[in-house]
Amino acid sequence: MSIEFFTRLPLHGETQFLPGDPRNRGDWHAGGPSTGAVSGFAVGDHFTYIDYLGQIARAAEINGFGGALMVNAPTGEEPWTVCSLLARETRTLKFVTAFQPYHYTPWVAVQQAATYQRATGNRLVWNIINGGSDAIQRQVGDFEDHDQRYARATEFMDVVRGYWHNEQFHYEGTYYRAEGGGLRGPLKKAELPLICTAGSSVAAREFAAKHADFYLMRAEHPDEIAALIADIRARALKWGRTDIRFGLSIDVIARDSEAAALAEAKRFFDEGVAKGTVKARAAHAGLRTARKLSYEHGYSDQDEQQAFDDFFIHPNVWTGFGYIGVPPGCALVGSYANVVARIREYHSIGVDLFFLAGYPHLEEAYRIGEHILPHFRAQRAAIARPAGQPVQLHVSNGA
Ligand SMILES: Cc1cc2nc3c(=O)[nH]c(=O)nc-3n(C[C@H](O)[C@H](O)[C@H](O)COP(=O)(O)O)c2cc1C
Repeated sequence: MSIEFFTRLPLHGETQFLPGDPRNRGDWHAGGPSTGAVSGFAVGDHFTYIDYLGQIARAAEINGFGGALMVNAPTGEEPWTVCSLLARETRTLKFVTAFQPYHYTPWVAVQQAATYQRATGNRLVWNIINGGSDAIQRQVGDFEDHDQRYARATEFMDVVRGYWHNEQFHYEGTYYRAEGGGLRGPLKKAELPLICTAGSSVAAREFAAKHADFYLMRAEHPDEIAALIADIRARALKWGRTDIRFGLSIDVIARDSEAAALAEAKRFFDEGVAKGTVKARAAHAGLRTARKLSYEHGYSDQDEQQAFDDFFIHPNVWTGFGYIGVPPGCALVGSYANVVARIREYHSIGVDLFFLAGYPHLEEAYRIGEHILPHFRAQRAAIARPAGQPVQLHVSNGA
């Protein structure tokens, strides 16, 4: 089984997650001391926050990452726009843009993606999301409930595939109708973006089973990940699919020695606790309300403060970031050798796409690129849709 590494672009800033860090990395910084370097990040300045994201994207591809995940939150920069802005500043990097079917009609998504794919050599990957929180959905105008959103997403992807692979696509569903549309002319040369999705609800798992090339997870104990993988594989099999693959998002605090890595994690932890940012709930509120990650149960109900060491749920797997509100919440902490070993462990249970990042993203893209990725050189393979997969997978006619 091959392995591939992507990183993440911080679309909702990063220095606000680093208590006491004076580095000026954009106007997401919530005030306080700042180096004042580079730009005031006012509209109209020569350098904007997108320039910083561009630096990270370039650093990522120079250091051998295959792509970058871009989270979509109503409070953050809009990812599809950002990847369009950065595509021409990069050469090989794939961009994983998250969006909700609610944000587009299937046709608009198809047309936008086809144009993007033609311009970039098929470097777009979709992460189909459906919103964790009803309250946040309503803020942006979506009043469907959780399971309806997944039903809509399933139809959305059916229609997307229909438009993509037909010139005269007809569809009559609950959420969408089409009478004869489809990609034509040069746009037909584009490849349908690879499809990622996440979510641990039954509805999310069923959606993934039918439509995802990659099912994405936030890091947990390897046993939890293995169980999740087995469940999704069984669900995919009901659609005759054996080709679904798995991605894991986990941060990295790796240093020459175990002690140096622990000291860095402890520094984050102590600063977070001192600043009172404890409790993961705030970190990604709204992105994962349906289910707490297993380790979050351990501390979310307890009021007393917990110690740094309590957050190791497995050797080198540290959930203290979640506790102090730094997303995505879980990190590999250890020497370079031990972090490599832990990645191999997750790989051995079925994860073959890793989203690795650290704070600050720019510097850590270099560190991970120089000290972690080279160990996997022989096993690396760019992600691609498996050859032979039927192009018109599971398109329904709304029957
Ligand atoms: C790697 C990864 C990336 C995610 N990216 C986003 C995102 O960009 N925007 C978002 O709203 N949710 C994101 N999520 C959250 C999921 O899409 C999903 O909404 C959440 O897990 C709750 O799903 P559920 O209620 O169906 O279990 C991400 C999850 C994972 C594991």
